[in-house]
Amino acid sequence: MLESFAMANIAILGATGNVGRLILEILEERKFPCESIKLLASARSAGSTIISPKGKEYKVEEATPEAFDGIDIVFASAGSETSKALAPEIIKRGGVMIDNSSAFRMDPEVPLVVPEVNAEDIKNHKGIIANPNCSTAPLVLALKPLDEKFKIKRVVVSTYQSVSGAGKAAMDELITASKKYMGNLPNELADLASSSSEIPDQHSYENYVNPIAFNLIPQIDVFMNNDYTKEEMKLINESKKMLHRPDLAITCTAVRVPVLVSHSESINLEFEEDITIKEIKKLWSKTESLEIMDNPSKSEYPMPINVTGRDPVYVGRIRLDESQPNTINFWLVSDNLRIGAALNAVRIGEELIKQEALAS
Ligand SMILES: NC(=O)c1ccc[n+]([C@@H]2O[C@H](COP(=O)([O-])OP(=O)(O)OC[C@H]3O[C@@H](n4cnc5c(N)ncnc54)[C@H](OP(=O)(O)O)[C@@H]3O)[C@@H](O)[C@H]2O)c1
Repeated sequence: MLESFAMANIAILGATGNVGRLILEILEERKFPCESIKLLASARSAGSTIISPKGKEYKVEEATPEAFDGIDIVFASAGSETSKALAPEIIKRGGVMIDNSSAFRMDPEVPLVVPEVNAEDIKNHKGIIANPNCSTAPLVLALKPLDEKFKIKRVVVSTYQSVSGAGKAAMDELITASKKYMGNLPNELADLASSSSEIPDQHSYENYVNPIAFNLIPQIDVFMNNDYTKEEMKLINESKKMLHRPDLAITCTAVRVPVLVSHSESINLEFEEDITIKEIKKLWSKTESLEIMDNPSKSEYPMPINVTGRDPVYVGRIRLDESQPNTINFWLVSDNLRIGAALNAVRIGEELIKQEALAS
């Protein structure tokens, strides 16, 4: 929470979406010092009403350039094209855009920030600060203290990403497709076993490249020339940028899973220096916004079901990789809509005010 003073005029661009709604909730939750809050979306939802968790009623307005007159901070979560189109209009009017889309993340002129990791980069902004990809933010938060102490040599990540990462429509589709799938299942378990090779029709899948219900899809976003997906390359490149480690060896496989909220990651880390699990846990126990949940004897570890709706990044299943020296395996789960998007954006806003780095 802020100790500060400055009262900002805020706009939430994409206010009717998954991330935008949560930004409003978190601004209220954290008592962000706002003079005013304006909710903006496309012409489709202009005129609709949103009631905040604290009961305040807002009219959604269309995100025209003039809508940004007098706005100090814009939390943008309306997709890359909208961010690219509106960024010059926001900056021209003296505002700072904290952008959840991937439009500017790798622009060398734009700081890409998780405040617990690289808050110092904020002061270099020129009107845009980017919020990282929803799997990258929790990853770098866990890696940063270990890299500082033991220097990470190589990172191997597999992500298990929930459907909320693809927006509200993708969540709705998982629910509809799951109901349809269950409706098509035979009643008898024996029948189920014998017919397991027959996949019930899941109607057309509009938000995915393959059916999502009762399935895993090892493709998020499009394939690149190197056969990685764009999502995988985002995690790789954004991690290097935020850790200030362009030399870091890091590889990733990103998988969409039929979970509504919270992304999970299986991570293998090799270090330059000698490490022990005790030292790793000691460092993590002092890391801001990170919680260890690791009690194998009681089957306690982070899962989407016990992490969703919470702010910290949770780590568990922490163990030495017995196949090579100075290497660990661990499991990480975080609420992708919070730390992976809305909460991180609001924390960037808090840092902006704390560092007195607003445009005017
Ligand atoms: N979900 C995540 O975990 C996550 C994490 C990190 C970053 N992000 C990024 O955040 C952005 C939003 O994600 P989301 O999950 O909230 O998506 P969403 O639920 O689909 O919401 C999209 C929002 O953008 C608005 N919008 C779309 N086109 C617009 C336009 N031309 N002008 C103004 N507003 C427009 C929509 O307004 P209407 O209601 O009028 O259509 C809606 O408010 C994306 O760029 C996404 O990549 C998401």
